[in-house]
Amino acid sequence: MAKTIRTQVGIIGSGPAGLLLSHLLDKHGIETIVLERQSRLHVEGRIRAGVLEQGTARLMREAGVNERMDNEGLVHDGVSLAFGNRVERIDFRAHTGKGVIIYGQTEMTKDLIQARLNAGKAIEFEAPALAVEDYRTGTPRIIYEKNGERHEVICDFVAGCDGSHGVSRQSIPAEQLTLFEKVYPFGWLGILAEVPPVNDELIYINHERGFALCSMRSHTRSRYYIQCALEDHVENWSDEDFWKELHRRLPSAAKDQLVTGPRLEMSIAPLRCFVAEPMRFGKLFLAGDAAHIMPPTGAKGLNLAASDVFFLSRALTAYYAEKRTDLLDRYSETALRRVWGSIRFSLWYTSLLHKFDEDPFNHRIQLADLTYMTGSEAARTSFAENYIGLPFEKFE
Ligand code: PHB
Repeated sequence: MAKTIRTQVGIIGSGPAGLLLSHLLDKHGIETIVLERQSRLHVEGRIRAGVLEQGTARLMREAGVNERMDNEGLVHDGVSLAFGNRVERIDFRAHTGKGVIIYGQTEMTKDLIQARLNAGKAIEFEAPALAVEDYRTGTPRIIYEKNGERHEVICDFVAGCDGSHGVSRQSIPAEQLTLFEKVYPFGWLGILAEVPPVNDELIYINHERGFALCSMRSHTRSRYYIQCALEDHVENWSDEDFWKELHRRLPSAAKDQLVTGPRLEMSIAPLRCFVAEPMRFGKLFLAGDAAHIMPPTGAKGLNLAASDVFFLSRALTAYYAEKRTDLLDRYSETALRRVWGSIRFSLWYTSLLHKFDEDPFNHRIQLADLTYMTGSEAARTSFAENYIGLPFEKFE
């Protein structure tokens, strides 16, 4: 039989944005429901990003879901950039006093799901939202499906945390949205393998054959990427082909360290940038990928989802605690300022490292930019500041 559920905040999507928001609101006694179209197994199996800014880690701690992250996460104080025949390290700690934490988004999601279930709060898996209705009224509704039946959630606010193809943004009439988009003519082919990483920190590589990235999930699990054509398919790549092409692009010192092994996962991610403005429509608030997609080069996607949630959780908490609506009114412009700040960095960093064409002039300019960026104290500081994450602006 069709159900009607009443709650304070209806959250669509159980990725990091939706889950983190549910925990932060929970801390303030605000009731939420989380709807997820996929199964728990599917959500916990998705391989995603792996670099947490301090602000993101802080929110996990505030949510009280930090034990495994703090025990198993690897603190990295810098990254290396390889270009020409050089490898230059940027020391985040020296320039900013801070580092980043290497901890898979997959692990973060698992922790957030488990903690919510342990607290006796529900996540409705395999419950796709079909539409968000009446979000300009006092009682917005989420229509969703479960076991072949239609149900509804009636709430005070809806948080659309359902990714770039989710129903939240699709529920908004096109003329009320301003979209910004940039599509790149290439993608990243990524492999995850149970092998020790080539280096104890990440290496970003500008190579004549195309970009490559050496990343990791732990001391025994590596994540590598190579730039590939947009039309390429995973089926075209054997494990051996991948390792061979990666090996070609590695700086010489790393070549000797490369340990190969069978894939745990291999996938292609197209590179694109997408922003939908504003991020608030009456009682409907977008957060994370539902509002913006970033090229992965600066490792910003997950961290922007977290900063949106920081602003949104503050705004909702101020509403319930003090009946304040001013933070809700400022949510969109405040979140978007940080989004555009990260886009600026991600696009610049993407342009610096990838092979766009065969023109040697363009490659020389990239090398000159990398030489300046790694050689100048001011430029290194600027890079470090952006990589470890711009501060959250005051929002209270
Ligand atoms: C990853 O480990 O998946 C990763 C790391 C850094 C990036 C992008 C992806 O910039």
